[in-house]
Amino acid sequence: MKSIQIGLIGLGTVGSGVFHVLQRNQEEIRRRAGRGIEVTMVSRRNVEQARAIVGDKAQVVADARAIIANPDIDIVVELMGGYELSRELVLEAIAAGKHVVTANKALLAVHGTEIFAAASAKGVMVAFEAAVAGGIPIIKSLREGLTANRLQWVAGIINGTTNFILSEMRDKGLDFEVVLQEAQRLGYAEADPTFDIEGIDAAHKLTLMSAIAFGIPVQFDKAYVEGITKLAAADIQYAEQLGYRIKLLGVTKRTAHGVELRVHPTLIPSKRLIANVEGAMNAVMAHGDAVGTTLYYGKGAGSEPTASAVIADLVDITRLHTADPAHRVPHLAFQPDAMSNLPVLPMSEVVTSYYLRLRVADQTGVLAKVTGLLAESGINIDAVLQRASGDESGQTDLIILTHDCQEAKMNTAQAQMQNLPTVLAPIVRIRKEELA
Ligand code: HSE
Repeated sequence: MKSIQIGLIGLGTVGSGVFHVLQRNQEEIRRRAGRGIEVTMVSRRNVEQARAIVGDKAQVVADARAIIANPDIDIVVELMGGYELSRELVLEAIAAGKHVVTANKALLAVHGTEIFAAASAKGVMVAFEAAVAGGIPIIKSLREGLTANRLQWVAGIINGTTNFILSEMRDKGLDFEVVLQEAQRLGYAEADPTFDIEGIDAAHKLTLMSAIAFGIPVQFDKAYVEGITKLAAADIQYAEQLGYRIKLLGVTKRTAHGVELRVHPTLIPSKRLIANVEGAMNAVMAHGDAVGTTLYYGKGAGSEPTASAVIADLVDITRLHTADPAHRVPHLAFQPDAMSNLPVLPMSEVVTSYYLRLRVADQTGVLAKVTGLLAESGINIDAVLQRASGDESGQTDLIILTHDCQEAKMNTAQAQMQNLPTVLAPIVRIRKEELA
């Protein structure tokens, strides 16, 4: 049977990985897919650089639209990133009747509803395993492997750059800015690291996982996003003393009132496997009513790990290419007419526990006042740690761990504590998840 023909839009790190892995493993992949999968066309602005990668094995063009216009291309792989041009090209490819594979989490988290609707109307597939956690087959796991379950929550370390920075901060006791510069020098962080360090990249990925886990539309605009830029080395050390690690965690939970969708620095018990995911690695936990808690670990970025996910989608599409569109796996795991309208909860309604660090005057009764305010707000304390400043300042750090409470209650209590004359600096608050 004739090979499935692929057009790659974008031949950078991931695109060249896709090309090389398809070449290297072509026999193995053919045995799995039932027919060959061949990259026959690639687009890259610098065609000379592209030719240096693909040689005479594929036609090289500068204009991505030449791929979409080619009737022989069965699947368009979009690897250029960004929102607007990629949106146009993906919609044009769908309109031309091509299946689409993309690694573009930003595109799908923001424009997913429009793109999936267009694909359903045209009867083509849009596959995006590579968009979340790189080489970890988490979309496949949530959408198919766990399909028997009523999923309760998904939580993950889904940004390698920030996990590398946090690991270095903990290992070396350094502050964020110092480690960021080092990460940029080593190539772990981009020259403009905003998407990573502000939690936006993680929130794009979490939005996609949440949609698949609960059968809700992709709603990036409703996600709560907080990055790691304000984290201090001192908090990482205090957390450690209390038996916790701080990770940038994406958390999505189903509650009776709606879905929590949030990315923020989070204390996790050190004894959890996921707390020990270090460096640029990714990991995702998913909890289902039947299966219990599951954990998936691997490389979240990089040329061949991401290519591994792209090619898995290519094989899936090749197998299902001729199937009736109604019998394929739905884009967001649930049938399009069976989506839930469960709302995404505002952050004030989220229930979680907290780490608080208060810089206070080392005087009689200060602890009692602080704990009194928490008690008045109905917030239950789990642990308290007091550390002398070690200098003559007469100040001390008071660290409090709470049990679960609604964020709105914590906001009120924190404002009251902040107003105490003996609280000498802005209170540091970090959310905590037991992931039990
Ligand atoms: N920049 C991401 C990370 C990989 O650091 O994990 C692509 O989403």
